Amino acid sequence: MARSARAAFVCQNCGAVAPRWAGKCAGCGEWNTLVEEADSAPPPGSGLSRASRGRAVALQDLAEAPAERLDRIPTGLVELDRVTGGGIVPGSALLIGGEPGIGKSTLLLQVAAALAMSGRRAVYFTGEEAATQVRLRAERLGLAGAPVALACETSLANILATLAEGKAPDLVVIDSIQTLWADGIEAAAGMVSQVRAATQSLVRFAKTQGPALLLVGHVTKDGQIAGPKVIEHMVDTVLYFEGDRGHAFRILRAAKNRFGATDEIGVFEMAASGLREVANPSELFLGERLASSPGSAVFAGMEGTRPILVELQALVVPSGLGTPRRAVVGWDANRLAMLLAVLDARTGISFSHHDVYLNVAGGLKITEPAADLAAAAALLSSIANLALGPYEVYFGEISLSGAVRPAGHMGSRLKEARKLGFKRAVLPAAGDLDEAASRLDLLRLAHVKGLADALGL
Ligand code: TYD
Ligand code: MG
Repeated sequence: MARSARAAFVCQNCGAVAPRWAGKCAGCGEWNTLVEEADSAPPPGSGLSRASRGRAVALQDLAEAPAERLDRIPTGLVELDRVTGGGIVPGSALLIGGEPGIGKSTLLLQVAAALAMSGRRAVYFTGEEAATQVRLRAERLGLAGAPVALACETSLANILATLAEGKAPDLVVIDSIQTLWADGIEAAAGMVSQVRAATQSLVRFAKTQGPALLLVGHVTKDGQIAGPKVIEHMVDTVLYFEGDRGHAFRILRAAKNRFGATDEIGVFEMAASGLREVANPSELFLGERLASSPGSAVFAGMEGTRPILVELQALVVPSGLGTPRRAVVGWDANRLAMLLAVLDARTGISFSHHDVYLNVAGGLKITEPAADLAAAAALLSSIANLALGPYEVYFGEISLSGAVRPAGHMGSRLKEARKLGFKRAVLPAAGDLDEAASRLDLLRLAHVKGLADALGL
């Protein structure tokens, strides 16, 4: 059934459709992201334009459904394999989102080259750079000799036609999905309808023909082009490449994974010769620590199955403002507000006349509640202008009552701390732990008051 082309306003951030223009998207709350797009026929090859008379399909018992083992393709990059759950699955679609300039093209070129050098066929379509630019990058990465098939192309139809010819590819890279355009869609490249149509056709190609599909999606703030969020539901795996451009390291985080867990991270360092894998992130995050300065506390955190030690830095200074400032980088601002209230109410130490700054060193973002105790230690250490012991680590969640709640993986956290030369750990009183095996001096706290007491406050 042919649909007439109607105009609709589509949010370029979340894909929500509104009948009328508005300054703010009702779906995601972003401003100035609604753009008029014609609601037009689906692209060729997507299969949607066929007559809608259905046919019965054969149903099978779940128990009898073929239980094929997933043959994963190891990418040659251990950190990427960790995040994907052991390698890329043939026939699956993987989206890599991230801000422009973070290193997505570099990462995918390294992956394509590694697979090509292991004898697989890797095809790389770039819509953003000229072939010479990609070639220069490959030279810089020392991969100029890799037999990657390269083309500069932005037409979806041409890409599908190219892929249908010749030897079937094992890996197809599209850099980026926002540069593609499909015939029959009345929207500029990068609009939600274009991005969705192109993704749909490519995912269908991957599912039927079997290559693994890697899509690049730029995250942009201005709402002019569609973000990767609008296609997250269409792909099997969504990875975000994060990092601060002021810092060299980059973190690959899974937001969705149909073939593995989403709590693992991959850590890379952007060096002059491309992305280097970081096997021991704790050493990197603690590298520049000035151990004896007040306000610095080391958090023994977990990212997936891997323990990571990271420094939390607090600066608490008397405020000249009626409403004191609270600024936080790498942690949740609401969580800081909560923690300050708990410290005030449960230990009697008030921050209400102080500006409070909290920073996670190195540009890492921490989401674990177990960071509370380390943040509290950093804050108390700063307000008292008293350095914590240089060889101490902290972890434990603090509840509103001030109780320190147990955290998972206590053994692994302590083992990592011990490995990196720490001598003492401050941790929750509750929770099973083989204390002797940790070979650390342990201070187990049931209440945050105990932390203030230990610091002599
Ligand atoms: P790029 O992969 O082009 O980012 P994206 O595709 O996400 O937009 O890489 C961007 C930055 O990385 C670029 O500004 C320069 C830097 N870079 C290095 O520092 N070393 C390298 O070897 C390469 C290839 C890039
Ligand atoms: Mg790029």
